[in-house]
Amino acid sequence: MKERILAYLKSRDGFVSGQAISEELGVSRTAIWKYINALKKEGYEIESVTRKGYRLLQSPDIITKEELAAFLPEGIFPGGICCFPVVDSTNEAAKRAVASGASDRTLFAADQQTAGRGRRGRSWSSPAGEDIFFSILLRPDIRPESASMVTILAAIAAAAAAKKHSGQTCMIKWPNDIVMHGRKICGILTEMTVEMDEISSVIVGVGFNVNRLRFPEEIADFASSIRKETGRRVRRAELLSDFAVEFSRRYERFLKEESLAPFVDEYNRCLINAGRQVKILRKGEELIRTAIGINDRGELIVRDEEGTEETVLSGEVSVRGLYGYT
Ligand code: BTN
Repeated sequence: MKERILAYLKSRDGFVSGQAISEELGVSRTAIWKYINALKKEGYEIESVTRKGYRLLQSPDIITKEELAAFLPEGIFPGGICCFPVVDSTNEAAKRAVASGASDRTLFAADQQTAGRGRRGRSWSSPAGEDIFFSILLRPDIRPESASMVTILAAIAAAAAAKKHSGQTCMIKWPNDIVMHGRKICGILTEMTVEMDEISSVIVGVGFNVNRLRFPEEIADFASSIRKETGRRVRRAELLSDFAVEFSRRYERFLKEESLAPFVDEYNRCLINAGRQVKILRKGEELIRTAIGINDRGELIVRDEEGTEETVLSGEVSVRGLYGYT
């Protein structure tokens, strides 16, 4: 009910009377007063004036079901939305939910993670109050080999959402780092659970550096946030919602064809590695190649000096720029 009262207040510009809310939502005026107080405690600035009613002045930048619901299109997460002030890792929360039968398209979002994980066994710095950490639990009917393609869709969606909120061009470092002005602002960790050789779930975990200005020393040289790069504070629930919209649209289409063909050009336009030399680390050997772009399976096509092309699988290699992070 708190969620519905908030949505009602958000849908109106001026004051709304307690009577109107009561009639519209079928709740007593005393209950409304209690919900309004609960919202105020969460940081919502709500003006209450006798005989006029309530008016929402400002919403806090928090990660709650109510705040997300205000931005997310209806039905985009039919499996539900779980928000945590603090959790070990949203990918882990999603995995636990898989074990207890959670359904397709459930969102797990957190304000803080105590054991945020990155790719290649690294940790993901996840302090409270500034950034956003979320995982989308999917249960697609696709072949296990296709699961990593979902990461490519998530990277395109993250770049699009970041662009919308920053006004800056966002690039992708293959396969799934989102880069602004040469610094990483977002990372994606896609994990799959398999049962009897079939996909049980694909969990797309996204860590967005949104408003943070300081980073731990070990990542300070290459990590940044949208705010650090643009000076603009971004409302996190809105950014997450825009990501979800961008992702869902492409994911629907992907499920029909189980191919990245419709997205290859869009991805390659954002690919920061394109035309640049990359160092490929494979089984202890270092290879220097020129990156060309991805193919319709999301593999990176690279070319050697003789012009011979080959593809590189994510997970199989680490692609580094020759002169630093990108
Ligand atoms: C990377 O670039 O190394 C991937 C980082 C992925 C971080 C996100 S934050 C939400 C989700 N939960 C985790 O523990 N990791 C992912």
